[in-house]
Amino acid sequence: MSDPRTTWREEIPAGEEALHEALAQRLRAMAEARDRGSARRILHLKPHVGVEARFVVRDDVPEELRVGLFAKAGTHRALVRFSNGGTARQADAKPDVRGIALKIFDVPGKKLIPGLEDAETQDFLMILASAVPFRDAQEFVTLVTAAASPATALFKLIGGLGFSRTFQVLGALRKGMSEIVPSLATATYHTALPLRFGPFAAKLRLAATTTEAGPVDPSPSRYREDLARRIAKGPLAWELSAQLYSDATTTPIEDPTVEWQGPFVPLARLEIPEQDVATAPGAKLEAAIEAMSFDPWHALVEHRPLGGMMRARNAAYRVSTQARAATSEASVADGVPWVLDPPA
Ligand code: HEM
Repeated sequence: MSDPRTTWREEIPAGEEALHEALAQRLRAMAEARDRGSARRILHLKPHVGVEARFVVRDDVPEELRVGLFAKAGTHRALVRFSNGGTARQADAKPDVRGIALKIFDVPGKKLIPGLEDAETQDFLMILASAVPFRDAQEFVTLVTAAASPATALFKLIGGLGFSRTFQVLGALRKGMSEIVPSLATATYHTALPLRFGPFAAKLRLAATTTEAGPVDPSPSRYREDLARRIAKGPLAWELSAQLYSDATTTPIEDPTVEWQGPFVPLARLEIPEQDVATAPGAKLEAAIEAMSFDPWHALVEHRPLGGMMRARNAAYRVSTQARAATSEASVADGVPWVLDPPA
């Protein structure tokens, strides 16, 4: 009998691709109206810091999980961008989604996006929540586009989602996704949505191993101040682990509102070595990271994003990054102004 953990399935409704393309275009139109000519990220507009990192695949990854990026123990160069999720730059003390985007370099193997099969990068994008309040990408985009005009947001949301669903989503948003954590250095991030893990499916978690509380900076950019201060003094680290699909009820692929149940298996360590973002090389690296594109579909075939919301992201990130002429993934590795010595 086959291993039940490999029995996960995606369910792709008819017409989904066209819907996802339309949702991506709706987001783009919203950003276009916002930016009037200077295209920027549709979401996660406000960066905190962009820094160099190390991604260290452990040498004790269980045999069955030694696939894709985790097939071989060792250290990869990586870049990290911390951000607020919103479509506007606002003070960090306001409720917002908080994100971390990782780009891991020197990753051999076939990648997913046609034309980028030979790219040498694997990205992971995560937020502080382990599940999301939206049932699908349409609900997500309805909320994002409604929130762009606060005066009419509630009216538009009720029009798009219906009365009771609107208040369900807003309640869940307040509870799960808009938390104001004291520091992004001590926070735990999640892919929130599943991806392939060779024959398995998994959600990933990045748990901070740094625990020291720091002073809460009163400035509107308190997360940047805090991260920059900590990184200038010493390294930060997180442990990456996988939670595997076990069955359609406790670990559903197509229902992003369900928090998966089950143990986490440690796979790798993300380290941000000591560095100073307030130097000229630090600023140059941050500018290069701002121009890059982080996309869950910049991935090995062994780590294909799974489920409707992930499939919607395939169109959304393509459209957003093309509109803002982000650095091509095909050549991104050639132009990184690294600030640290290569790993030994
Ligand atoms: C629920 C899981 C999700 C997570 C964990 C997530 C995470 C992130 C993160 C961390 C970024 C910032 C990337 C960077 O620093 O460059 C980002 C950007 C973005 N996200 Fe998501 N996101 C999710 C869902 C979605 C969905 C459902 C959509 C749309 C259908 C979407 C559309 C976008 C777009 C358009 C950008 C900007 C892309 C760019 O121009 O670089 N996201 N997301």
